[in-house]
Amino acid sequence: MTVRRSILAGFGGYLPERVMTNDDLAKIVDTSDEWIVERTGIRQRHIAADDQVTSDLAFEAAKAALTDAGADAAEVDMIVLATATPDETFPATATKVQHQLGMTRGAAFDVQAVCTGFIFALATADNFIKAGQAESVLVIGAETFTRILDWTDRSTCVLFGDGAGAVLLRAGEGDGSFQDRGILSSTLHSDGSKHDLLYADGGPSTTQNAGVVKMEGRQVFKQAVTNLAAVVGETLDGTGLDMSDVDWLVPHQANRRILDGTAKKLGMAAEKVVITVGEHANTSAASVPLALSTAVADGRIKPGDLIMMEAMGSGMTWGASLARL
Ligand code: UT7
Repeated sequence: MTVRRSILAGFGGYLPERVMTNDDLAKIVDTSDEWIVERTGIRQRHIAADDQVTSDLAFEAAKAALTDAGADAAEVDMIVLATATPDETFPATATKVQHQLGMTRGAAFDVQAVCTGFIFALATADNFIKAGQAESVLVIGAETFTRILDWTDRSTCVLFGDGAGAVLLRAGEGDGSFQDRGILSSTLHSDGSKHDLLYADGGPSTTQNAGVVKMEGRQVFKQAVTNLAAVVGETLDGTGLDMSDVDWLVPHQANRRILDGTAKKLGMAAEKVVITVGEHANTSAASVPLALSTAVADGRIKPGDLIMMEAMGSGMTWGASLARL
């Protein structure tokens, strides 16, 4: 039996030039390098330049993914961009990227699932390809999260950074087995009752401004390892594969302790987990594609490898995606 599969054909990442270290932060808020490293594993974060907006970061990552795939923007049928920090309330940031890439056809839209955004965008794009409605889709996660931080709140402002990552998906064929290349299985979850654990306290319909990040960190932490391990299990269910088949875990990069705890619960060796939180901090929807493009570029993730991507974030939302390169 021949089935359509979404092949991961190109990878790109972009980090703004400016780096803010923990010591830099300690000059503006009551914190220390020691506390941040011990509690989170974060050593630095990148900050967008004053004249850079989310679409600029997304454009750079998208260009890199197209180059990596040897593709031209003219072949792209669709852009699905995950962000919680769009350039404007409307239109979708994806349409600005579409224009910057010189695309004159196709559809471009944003999805909003905060830190899980890339997993939601990837599943959306995969379904368009599987349904035969697109041949080539750019999936982007891009954020300027540092623009919505309260820089006087040490419990949140030390955690986040800016960046973008992108993957070009191309329609391909498989035999329908879980040995195929491409996206093999995805699981998405939301639970709106957990809204108050992590949200931005503004928006066009409430305060007419974007608001700043509010988080019950300890409560979010408690949910994370359990939910992430469970959703990875659900994503493997019915595939005949288990964690021992997975070559790389590519997790959302929120906190080193969450990464280690989840890997341990899944029985995944630490050296098979892609970890970028130290250098990138939490870049929300950009973190999974940034980690992925980093590990592909440095040769860790190779063609044929089976990868498990997972994320959890505000909403609450959480999800996972299993793919073979
Ligand atoms: O991507 C979306 C999902 N977000 C997450 O996954 C975040 C999940 N949560 C976390 O990563 C952790 O809960 C945090 C890193 C946010 C906090 O770590 P924690 O170990 O849970 O610390 P805590 O909130 O229990 O605070 C411990 C102490 C407190 O002081 P007292 O009350 O014990 O005197 C805080 O005031 O650490 C203090 N503290 C800080 N100290 C120095 C909180 N933030 C800081 C800071 N520097 N930046």
